[in-house]
Amino acid sequence: MKYLLVIFVFILLFLGCRKDKVFFETTPYALEIPSHFPQMQIPTENQLTEEGVLLGRFLFYEKRLSGDNSQSCASCHSPLAAFSDPNQYSTGIDGIQGDRNSMALINLGWQTFFFWDGREKTLEEQILQPVINPIEMHESWKNAINKLKADEKYRNLFFRAFNTQDFDSTHASKAIAQFLRTLVSATSKYDIMYKSIYGFTLTPQENTILASVTPDEWAGYDLFKSLNGADCFHCHNGPLMQINTFSNNGLDANPLDFGRELVTNNPNDRAKFKVPTLRNIEFSAPYMHDGRFATLEEVINHYSSGIQMSATIDPNIEYASQGGVQLDATQKSLLMKFLLTLTDHEFINNPKFQDPN
Ligand code: HEC
Ligand code: HEC
Repeated sequence: MKYLLVIFVFILLFLGCRKDKVFFETTPYALEIPSHFPQMQIPTENQLTEEGVLLGRFLFYEKRLSGDNSQSCASCHSPLAAFSDPNQYSTGIDGIQGDRNSMALINLGWQTFFFWDGREKTLEEQILQPVINPIEMHESWKNAINKLKADEKYRNLFFRAFNTQDFDSTHASKAIAQFLRTLVSATSKYDIMYKSIYGFTLTPQENTILASVTPDEWAGYDLFKSLNGADCFHCHNGPLMQINTFSNNGLDANPLDFGRELVTNNPNDRAKFKVPTLRNIEFSAPYMHDGRFATLEEVINHYSSGIQMSATIDPNIEYASQGGVQLDATQKSLLMKFLLTLTDHEFINNPKFQDPN
């Protein structure tokens, strides 16, 4: 009995040591969910780890994911532009332009569909697309992975994150998804206004910022929310500043891009697009799915008097048949002041989101 026990202990020790040598212990990534946000639904098979997020950050800025090693995700999703592209249309590695404006990457962990037409349902699936897209990064995943495997830095990063040297596109997209889920914006002036209205506890520092909100900014927020004012909140509201749906906001009488209909084949979805967040809107110009508006003034003028009627226009676009909500110059300027409270400097300048190279 005694001998058996000794042998048993040795076997355990042996297995234990082997485990230490072959496996890397990952560290769970402590993602802080802001108090006024809902819980983030993270897939069980892709929980965030320090090692996964770090790898994802390297990959997001990695030009070798493209056919001629000239373009990374960040080329069209620049942190300075709230992870969007300041150009109306992005140009891929072969010099070909797409026909949609790059989207700002903000609070993606709370989204349930991706792209302007919502054609992908998970971040992990979405991320596989730009690399193989012939008018974007135009590279096969096989080549891209082989380039990474030739680099010791990536062999180590992948091994630490996923315990494998035989990594593939699934691991790469999981890591980028982990990094994208850390891109949380929740520290704008608007957040503090929102928290104060809905009774969330404010820190002393937040109370100081609350005291600095100007009467014009509050008046702009009232207009934003008011049915008789600008009436924006039907579609852009809550902590995410967007609702989880597709909508036609009256850009064209005869739309060229059929948007959601291209995915569902349902004519009732014609020219409906994902309602985008208005967070950091100051930085993500130009605006709309085709980047047709260069400035926020143009956007406000659109909702005020530029609305075009069509069969699928959203009933929540008020006074659509009269061209919009008809704001006067003062109201437009108040609304603009409110839109600028959505700027989150901490998010834009967060060192953890920048190029790690
Ligand atoms: C050549 C420019 C370009 C490159 C490179 C690029 N993107 Fe994009 N991205 C876009 C455009 C344009 C859209 C919108 C396309 C559409 O809706 O059809 C988009 C949309 C997205 C979205 C959807 C966001 C949302 O709210 O639905 C995500 C996520 C995204 N890109 C991540 C990435 C990642 C990760 C990479 C690198 C692997 C990448 N992109 C590389 C231009 C680019
Ligand atoms: C009925 C829903 C609805 C209402 C009401 C609404 N929007 Fe929008 N908004 C959208 C949709 C949908 C888009 C994207 C449309 C597209 O690109 O085709 C959008 C896009 C935008 C954009 C561009 C975002 C980007 O990333 O390009 C801004 C800015 C904006 N809206 C501000 C406002 C303001 C200000 C108001 C009130 C005056 C308002 N919206 C009212 C649905 C709405």
